Amino acid sequence: MILSGKAKLAGVIGWPVSHSKSPRLHGYWLEKHTIDGAYVPLAVKPDDLHAVVRGLVKAGFRGVNITVPHKENVMAVCDQISEQARRIGAVNTLVFHEDGSVHGMNTDGYGFLENLKQGPKSWHANSGPAVVLGAGGAARAVCAALLEAGAPEIHLLNRTVEKAEQVAKDLGSTVNVHSLTESAKWLPGAALLVNTTTLGMNGAEPLHLDLSPLAQTAVVTDIVYAPLETDLLKAAKARGNPTVDGLGMLLHQARPGFEAWFGVKPEVTPELRAFVLAEAP
Ligand code: ATR
Repeated sequence: MILSGKAKLAGVIGWPVSHSKSPRLHGYWLEKHTIDGAYVPLAVKPDDLHAVVRGLVKAGFRGVNITVPHKENVMAVCDQISEQARRIGAVNTLVFHEDGSVHGMNTDGYGFLENLKQGPKSWHANSGPAVVLGAGGAARAVCAALLEAGAPEIHLLNRTVEKAEQVAKDLGSTVNVHSLTESAKWLPGAALLVNTTTLGMNGAEPLHLDLSPLAQTAVVTDIVYAPLETDLLKAAKARGNPTVDGLGMLLHQARPGFEAWFGVKPEVTPELRAFVLAEAP
């Protein structure tokens, strides 16, 4: 990579940030489109977030992605926040405007939907109720996107029911809240099952879920992508359900930011998937 004095700059802010796949992902697109630009990892402590964002604006950056643990706190630094990000209560993409203002958006829901759309043809938002497991930031983004796309009803199941109740309160009356132990009651009518909990992730506890009440036509997806094929997806596939893995959500959520900063709408391809999955040298 050789930059000119006019290079367009962006990056990802996290603490820590070393685990982030975003520099590799954006780096692939920058090279593919021979863009005079760079996307760098920025390890920023929570106390420094405000000063760093304002500093990057002054340094001429086009914007940044925001990852754990800053997605909620960064909202206080934004001059404008998109309607969807406000509803979700978290921001993962900042675009810096020429007047120095900071625009915050959340592209996780977009990434989730685009990933599903590229999956099995049998799923449409209006095919029927969705069962969503978990009530963290990812669940908020998934539910907001599903409702916006026309999902008729969402059953939100979480270990801590109060947390799910707060999500329902923020997102609307078509979100019904239940305990994670009640899946047998809500799986039978579902057209879509989404795991947004950390269960099943490498190093985390397994997700114990009996899929037998689920229709074989229901699409099953997991936002966990390490491992790529979680036990949930394996079990769903084995009984004939269409499945979608979580890597695509990560790849698709990056597209709006890349387009805003670098002026090209990038594509998610099998080559990109393989490149991001491969360990960095
Ligand atoms: P994110 O913002 O990525 O969604 P999060 O806010 O930490 O992450 O949310 C993690 C989700 O996984 C939550 O729904 C959490 O359930 P609680 O709200 O009850 O904490 C769920 N989760 C994590 N560990 C769990 C476990 N051992 N059993 C059941 N659910 C679990």
